[in-house]
Amino acid sequence: MARQILGFPDSDAIAEYVVAEFIRLAKDAVWTRGVFHVALAGGSTPKRAYQLLSTPKYSRRVEWGSVQIYFGDERAVEPDHDDSNFNTAQNALLGTLPLHHSQVHRMAGERGDLDAAARDYETIMERFFAVKRGQEMPRFDLVLLGMGKDGHTASLFPFTEALKEQDRWVVANEVPQLNTSRLTLTAPVINSARAVLFLVSGTDKAEALERVLEGPFNSLELPSQLIDPVDGEYAWLVDEAAASHLKKEPATPVLPGTAS
Ligand code: 6PG
Repeated sequence: MARQILGFPDSDAIAEYVVAEFIRLAKDAVWTRGVFHVALAGGSTPKRAYQLLSTPKYSRRVEWGSVQIYFGDERAVEPDHDDSNFNTAQNALLGTLPLHHSQVHRMAGERGDLDAAARDYETIMERFFAVKRGQEMPRFDLVLLGMGKDGHTASLFPFTEALKEQDRWVVANEVPQLNTSRLTLTAPVINSARAVLFLVSGTDKAEALERVLEGPFNSLELPSQLIDPVDGEYAWLVDEAAASHLKKEPATPVLPGTAS
């Protein structure tokens, strides 16, 4: 499906749109397939959306018993560490929801053997998506992503091995520029999703955003360019600050459920 680039005044407006889309996609998925598989983005940008979604006004509109929560990536830290993407989501959203622990699939970034942790995560995905590695790609109903000012997304960083991955769903990725390794979903599994939303906010992302969206294809240097869903809804949600270098004006979003 065609890529949309939607412009918002600020990160709060992005958060409101993300929450509306989360509710819409969850309803569709549960109605159609009885389950909503969603991968949460790490970093700080999605926090506002998580906090908003956790408020009763919105959270009561999701059938949480039919939701399976995953993560786009995880740092090599304990789950209670401030840098943990799980910890961020737990504090901003998950801790307030009526979820059984079996519905939240944390990437075990704290493990010494991250390759084993990646394979174990794939085994969990095989079970919950009821697909087999090598036979069929699991299809997330929604993948939320952020973008770094170097053009990375999830933990797909420039010039790292994970960018070449065509088959695995989750890998341990060595990130020399951060002097660490991380767990990350791969581009093929993200591109199998039914919907992918990028959330990009702030002036510090403007240069990378322009290169990713309007520059030449160079995914080794700009890994966010690897994301191009095969058969899924695809939108970049950008605020005015992040969009300030774009030559083409982002479209004005129509809030889900308000289309005439
Ligand atoms: C991570 C994220 C990463 C993030 C970008 C943007 O673990 O860091 O998955 O891909 O989305 O770095 O981060 P901010 O939203 O904090 O700018």
